[in-house]
Amino acid sequence: MKFVLSNKPLNQIEADLEVILVVNKNLDHPWVQDRTDLALFGFNGEEEQVAFLPHLARLYVSTPSLEHDEIRNATAKAIKTLKKSHAKSLKIGTYIDKCPVVNIKAMVDGFIFGDYAFDKYKSKKEEHSIQEIMISTQEYSGKSFSFENAQEAISQAQIVANATNFVRDIVNTTPDDMTPKKFAKVAKILAEENALECHIYNKKFLEENKMGAFLAVSRASNHPPRLVHLIYRPKNPKYKIAIVGKGLTYDSGGLSLKPSEHMVTMKADKSGASAVMGIIKAVSELALPIELHAIAGLCENMIGGNAYKPDDVLVAKNGKTIEVRNTDAEGRLVLADCLCYAQELKPDFILDFATLTGACVVALGEYTTGVMGFNKELKEQILKAAEASGELAAELPFNKYLGKLLKSSVADISNISSSRYGGAITAAMFLGEFIEEANRDKWVHLDIAGPAYIEKEWGYNPYGAGAAGVRMAVKWMQKLTSEKKEHN
Ligand code: BES
Ligand code: ZN
Ligand code: ZN
Repeated sequence: MKFVLSNKPLNQIEADLEVILVVNKNLDHPWVQDRTDLALFGFNGEEEQVAFLPHLARLYVSTPSLEHDEIRNATAKAIKTLKKSHAKSLKIGTYIDKCPVVNIKAMVDGFIFGDYAFDKYKSKKEEHSIQEIMISTQEYSGKSFSFENAQEAISQAQIVANATNFVRDIVNTTPDDMTPKKFAKVAKILAEENALECHIYNKKFLEENKMGAFLAVSRASNHPPRLVHLIYRPKNPKYKIAIVGKGLTYDSGGLSLKPSEHMVTMKADKSGASAVMGIIKAVSELALPIELHAIAGLCENMIGGNAYKPDDVLVAKNGKTIEVRNTDAEGRLVLADCLCYAQELKPDFILDFATLTGACVVALGEYTTGVMGFNKELKEQILKAAEASGELAAELPFNKYLGKLLKSSVADISNISSSRYGGAITAAMFLGEFIEEANRDKWVHLDIAGPAYIEKEWGYNPYGAGAAGVRMAVKWMQKLTSEKKEHN
């Protein structure tokens, strides 16, 4: 899909169709030319309405406001409606609320997300009719803005939205088609395309590095584990950041086997690892001045004669011992070792992304990411970035009483809490035990168990993989690097 920004007014732009947004039921706006036809359709501008008038080559979409996420909903709806049409190009004006860049990006996001379809396993492929989108600088309320800034906003939005869809493709792919080895191949191709440094480590490396927790989780699978480490090294980085992702290419629960209805969708337990691939893709294409390390811990949690067991005591990379009381709490074990590995790089910030707990979904609902960690300000920055990017996120606060529930009588720590309440927080506090004292304020954990995968469409998000974490993390890094000078 190609985007073209034009200085011409809408009526001078040639396109097969025009898309008009009806904002807050305002049918009196001069861009709304077809009131009689619209009335015939029963279109009155109420939320979520669409009216396609093919004989007039116009499509009307209602939006309750010009708030950026509503713009995403509206343009996604437009492209979805037109997928099966024969139109190849469309034109649309600009709709600015407070900031031109924010709303132009949102418009592009909506078009790209609305056009996404995962049809790898369908005999009949989805249609994608629209090839070209002409955006006129003519603005809904007559506002003017910089052409260059708008142009830049369009290309940045394309980079981030395409990286988001790249993550969706990885997550939606079946466990047999996205084993740790195959995932590593995807990472290698990305590294080649984006000139990233690429390290792919196998079981031997994990053994040499004494990553006993990660190894235990991976042991019963026929597909051996991989640790992928991609690095983006720009010339004068202002920061060094490590992003770590949980990459369970399948989570059966292990010997603490999941009931069958909970096992379905567990191909999405690799969403954290997939997100870090998408983030490094976007950051490298945006050429942000960040030395970025993307670390993915990839394995399967399976059953078998050699499976790790409840009652086992594992030794993590940093020497801490962990009593296993539930093999389904495996993500924290893989991450514990990966976080130790990441800290050896001495980064300024460490973010981890994981479909870590069902409890996070219970706490916040399926659309919202849980943000946890020791550093209040850093968490707030991430929450703000989430809001600005169109993702939903909320903080879940630590407290020392919950931390005590991870005590073990036989090892340094237990892999599950002794209480069934507060499970998202206790899981994050378990990870916190593997963050060195000096790094406590550098770390944030994002539990994406809800929005990483939803078996229904929501807003402009398609069925399936949500690529949660990608847009908010990139936004945070954009913000961070636009505020600080050289790093020494
Ligand atoms: N991968 C799951 C968490 C999950 C659940 C992700 C639902 C997405 C949707 C994780 O490995 C897990 O099974 N966690 C357990 C932890 C429990 C045993 C303490 C859970 O949430 O039930
Ligand atoms: Zn699990
Ligand atoms: Zn899991």
